[in-house]
Amino acid sequence: MSDRQKFIDSLLGKMTLQEKVGQLNLYNGTWEFTGPVPEDDDSQRKSENIKRGLVGGMLNVLTAAGTREAQHLAVAHSRLGIPLLFGYDVIHGYKTMAPIPLAQAASWDPQVARKCAKLAALEASASGINWTFAPMIDITRDPRWGRMMEGPGEDPYLGSVMAEAWVRGFQGDDLSRTDTIAACAKHFAAYGFSEAGRDYNTVDIGHSTLYNIVLPPFKAAARADVATFMNGFNELNGIPVTGSEFLQRQILKESWQWEGFVVSDWASIAEMITHGYARDLQDAAKKALSAGCDMDMESKAYEKHLDQLVVEGRMDQTLLDDAVRRILQVKYDLGLFKDPYRYCDPQREQSSILTGENLAVSREAARKSIVLLKNENQLLPLPKNEIKIGVIGSLAQDKDIPLGSWRAQAEQNSAVSLLEGLKALTGPENIRFAEGYKLTRGDRSFLYELDMVEEDESGFDEAVEMAQNCDLVVMAMGEDCWQTGEGRSQTDIGLKGSQTALLSRILAVNQKVVVIMMSGRSLAITEVAEAVPALLQVWHLGSEAGHAMAEVIFGDYNPSGKLPVSFPRHGGQVPVYYNHKNTGRPTTNPHDDGMVFWSHYTDCENSPLFPFGYGLSYSKFEYADFQLSADRIRSGESIKATVKLKNSGPFDGEEVVQLYIRDHVASVTRPVKELKDFQKVFLVAGQEQTITFEISEETLCFYDNQGNLICEPGEFTIMVGGCSLQLLKQMLSYEVV
Ligand code: BGC
Repeated sequence: MSDRQKFIDSLLGKMTLQEKVGQLNLYNGTWEFTGPVPEDDDSQRKSENIKRGLVGGMLNVLTAAGTREAQHLAVAHSRLGIPLLFGYDVIHGYKTMAPIPLAQAASWDPQVARKCAKLAALEASASGINWTFAPMIDITRDPRWGRMMEGPGEDPYLGSVMAEAWVRGFQGDDLSRTDTIAACAKHFAAYGFSEAGRDYNTVDIGHSTLYNIVLPPFKAAARADVATFMNGFNELNGIPVTGSEFLQRQILKESWQWEGFVVSDWASIAEMITHGYARDLQDAAKKALSAGCDMDMESKAYEKHLDQLVVEGRMDQTLLDDAVRRILQVKYDLGLFKDPYRYCDPQREQSSILTGENLAVSREAARKSIVLLKNENQLLPLPKNEIKIGVIGSLAQDKDIPLGSWRAQAEQNSAVSLLEGLKALTGPENIRFAEGYKLTRGDRSFLYELDMVEEDESGFDEAVEMAQNCDLVVMAMGEDCWQTGEGRSQTDIGLKGSQTALLSRILAVNQKVVVIMMSGRSLAITEVAEAVPALLQVWHLGSEAGHAMAEVIFGDYNPSGKLPVSFPRHGGQVPVYYNHKNTGRPTTNPHDDGMVFWSHYTDCENSPLFPFGYGLSYSKFEYADFQLSADRIRSGESIKATVKLKNSGPFDGEEVVQLYIRDHVASVTRPVKELKDFQKVFLVAGQEQTITFEISEETLCFYDNQGNLICEPGEFTIMVGGCSLQLLKQMLSYEVV
């Protein structure tokens, strides 16, 4: 028996029923809310309950001093002195903001994701936090959903690579180090498939999508030993996931043998009543714990009802013990029993937050997350001198929006704006600025709806005049970060306000326009993309946004990002994603010239505006000589796929080499393409390199509708290239012997 098990067994043996239930309660601190405020939110009662050992952890309690004070209540006053967990939404940084997670995924670089999570852990842990509610690894295909910004995008393989990197970044190799924190894989599961992209909405998807698209990143997180999971607000096929025994017990705890604990989402246990799945709070408590939800965030369901349910024999005590054990294990692994104050060090808090080193990590991630979508006649990169640049747009001078949604303790307006970044790199004398349009007004916050500026052309004339007198225009367009995030779904994923109208006016006087597109989702920007010669997708890049954008604009860094989500041509095409099924009528029949009977829209092409995996470089990467070491593979064998990659352009740079497969005939139909591997490769100008991938049975597997990973004999197309739509192909057959 391990020391940990001995310790926990002995502690469990001493605990009363009330103390056990206490470990399952997660209280909100009183000064910050990340969900609806409960009616009976009373700080006095909270303190008393902590002292009585009736609380397992708190969320939204901040600073080394604040967490120390709360920890003291638990450790010094409660009978067994069991320390508290302190959880917080440290999603892409604590004070130093890294790019939003969707942007990090656009780097296609797990090192970037890992470093960003490590940085977030370093700062949060210095401020008393020992548990983050991240990573959010909900795969989504729907940009209407505001939370697309928080996750890795549309692909389960890229999502799995990112999930692992984020978990390892937060937790390091040793959870007991004071600069690492427990991570939380959320939201388990399928929240990203909320109907019509509306937040908190119903999810109804088939098993094939669940097993092949939704679950893989969670499995990767579980394999990387993520300490905790969070369930969610959504129902899945009629069962709220918070009450889903199938997800939490059968899949997560039994099939995957995962040993951490599951926390509910904010009040999601109580919301099972509203869903129409539980009669009352007691019923909700019973259903949630039975289903494997170990900790109750802000429903007060466990606190109010569990002990009675156990006493009356209506709740199996072993399930309660199992939940307590799981929670105590995480506390043990964090080292809290050795030193409950290990994360509450005001000196470290002073010295290790927002340092130059931290900002450098954020800047590196930011530059690597930028995706070059268009660059006609090599308009970019711009020369630094002897050029008069007109910068346009309220987004260009904004120091807050680049921080992104879910920004923890970032200081308002603390990001480097695009305008500041450009001036710093080329000298203010080369830059003019006109605001041109306004996007939002009034107070902007995490909690409330934004006030958008719909029509305002008062700044147009000034901007047009400036554009006329400049060599080139850099125009910032896109969305406010508070148009994205939780509770911020939109039906219209085009550009809001008067931005596009202004762009038309600008183009009439100066066609040399570089658009810098800031967003937390894939936007429908066909009109803009067609009209301008150069377009950079920059997401919300964090504290160092402006510097990173300027480095790319002036060519100090050659862009290397690729899209983690498809960009639709039109909002009505949503969901549009690369790994779709073929359908029975994928194209028009050549004999039915002009007939409508095939799977298409009559007013829009099926293909996306910019596909998944797409992104240009200032250099040019050429693929040639794609070969497989054999054209057949038998069970247990593996083969090699090789391709020659040449940087034939004038700049050193990185390329993301992507490997896809298509399984032509299967017992459950397979997508037209599935990403299976990728490598990010740096080549100096003129350099050529052979890139090698290994293909084994595992590469060819999929989940059947019962959740079994299977590999069926047959023909596969293996594809390689720099984007999901432009690929070299080879055939491979797989035989079972
Ligand atoms: C969100 C979670 C978050 C929690 C705590 C909820 O509203 O869905 O992702 O971790 O609040 O702030």
